[in-house]
Amino acid sequence: MKKVITYGTFDLFHLGHLEILRRAKALGDYLVVAVSTDEFNSVKGKRCVYPYEHRSSIVQAIKYVDQVIAEDSWEQKRSDIINHKIDIFTMGDDWTGKFDDLADICEVIYLDRTKGISTTDLKANITNNSY
Ligand code: CTP
Repeated sequence: MKKVITYGTFDLFHLGHLEILRRAKALGDYLVVAVSTDEFNSVKGKRCVYPYEHRSSIVQAIKYVDQVIAEDSWEQKRSDIINHKIDIFTMGDDWTGKFDDLADICEVIYLDRTKGISTTDLKANITNNSY
């Protein structure tokens, strides 16, 4: 069985999120998604509309997702890959090159982002009433 892992915030769940999860699952047989905790987001200077419990429940309910884990540090990727016996690490291409160091323990694949949608844009559009 091929196991795949991906990481993200998944705030205001949108089509780009659905698409990356669909394509991540299609790379293997079992998809683990690490969703960033609210504490980790504050370290990154990010604030979410939905708390971790909501974001992780929504991601867990997606049919392509087999398991959700919490992401609470930058350094955990290597140990997650080892502990969960991951074959493929994948992220959207906004991260191209950033995780190539993991290629010694698994395959690293960057997927094209869905064009024209992001949580940042959604938040800005809602704030400006331009939806
Ligand atoms: N993603 C994607 N296509 C989009 C938006 C996101 O493929 N249009 C992917 C990202 O590349 C990442 C995953 O979805 O691998 C989770 O991204 P996340 O940062 O949670 O979503 P964004 O909408 O990019 O949020 P933000 O604008 O806050 O960065």
